[in-house]
Amino acid sequence: MALAPKDPLNTELLDLARDLAQSAGNLQRARYETGFRIDTKSAAIDLVTEVDQACEAMIVDGIQAARPDDAILAEEGHGGDNEVSQVRWIIDPLDGTTNFAHGFPRFCVSIGIEVAGLRSVGVVYDPLLDERFEATLGEGAWLGPRRLQVTEETELGRALVATGFAYDVHNSENDNLASFRNVVKTARGIRRDGSAALDLCYVAAGRLDAYWELKLHPWDVAAGFLIVEEAGGRLADFTGGPADRSGREVVATNGPLHSQLLGQLEPGA
Ligand code: IPD
Ligand code: CA
Ligand code: CA
Repeated sequence: MALAPKDPLNTELLDLARDLAQSAGNLQRARYETGFRIDTKSAAIDLVTEVDQACEAMIVDGIQAARPDDAILAEEGHGGDNEVSQVRWIIDPLDGTTNFAHGFPRFCVSIGIEVAGLRSVGVVYDPLLDERFEATLGEGAWLGPRRLQVTEETELGRALVATGFAYDVHNSENDNLASFRNVVKTARGIRRDGSAALDLCYVAAGRLDAYWELKLHPWDVAAGFLIVEEAGGRLADFTGGPADRSGREVVATNGPLHSQLLGQLEPGA
């Protein structure tokens, strides 16, 4: 597929997002398995560490210094909306906080950027593997020099699929368990690795054939959605309708598996 000519604004934004993701990832690597403060948020199982906070402050300070007019939506509440600019940054400073808190080596920095409401740039950096997934609109998705492409698998029975569970899983009836059961019984394998942003990138990279999850947030998906799209993948909500950037219902597949996976998902259960 031919690549679109590079858009200078997207190139500038990608360079900045890369630098900021690298700095935050360096901090995560340095603090991994060291002592740090851990607090809870919406539920006893919803954690936030001082490293989440420090990474977010570092990224937001960097954006505000370089591009003071841009709007910023960041998970831990730094930054703010700004109507002057068409550029909006959507940041998960540490996706996989439960893993990070337990010393389970799977977490990342996720930075997505919309320009005039369009997903335009995405960077997801895994500091332990030193893997940076990135995409800009019309220019493909990349892992270093490797252009990413979703798999061509056509049978759910041969597919490796990932999902996750929301922080209200102890109390909510809408807990993803019915869908989980269906997919366990039909797919080759299923994973729950604890980082939605990396799960999406793994679909793009062909390491997973598909992924779904409920009740995510814009910062979990802003970068990963573009990376999946630019790798030729398909996004949807649970009814097969357009992907919802709120993250409320997320389905990401290689394309050929789309309707088979949708057929196994039970919205509201
Ligand atoms: C969480 C992770 C996890 C997903 C949760 C997310 P956080 O993000 O992406 O994989 O299952 O729903 O909230 O809290 O680690 O940034
Ligand atoms: Ca997250
Ligand atoms: Ca987070």
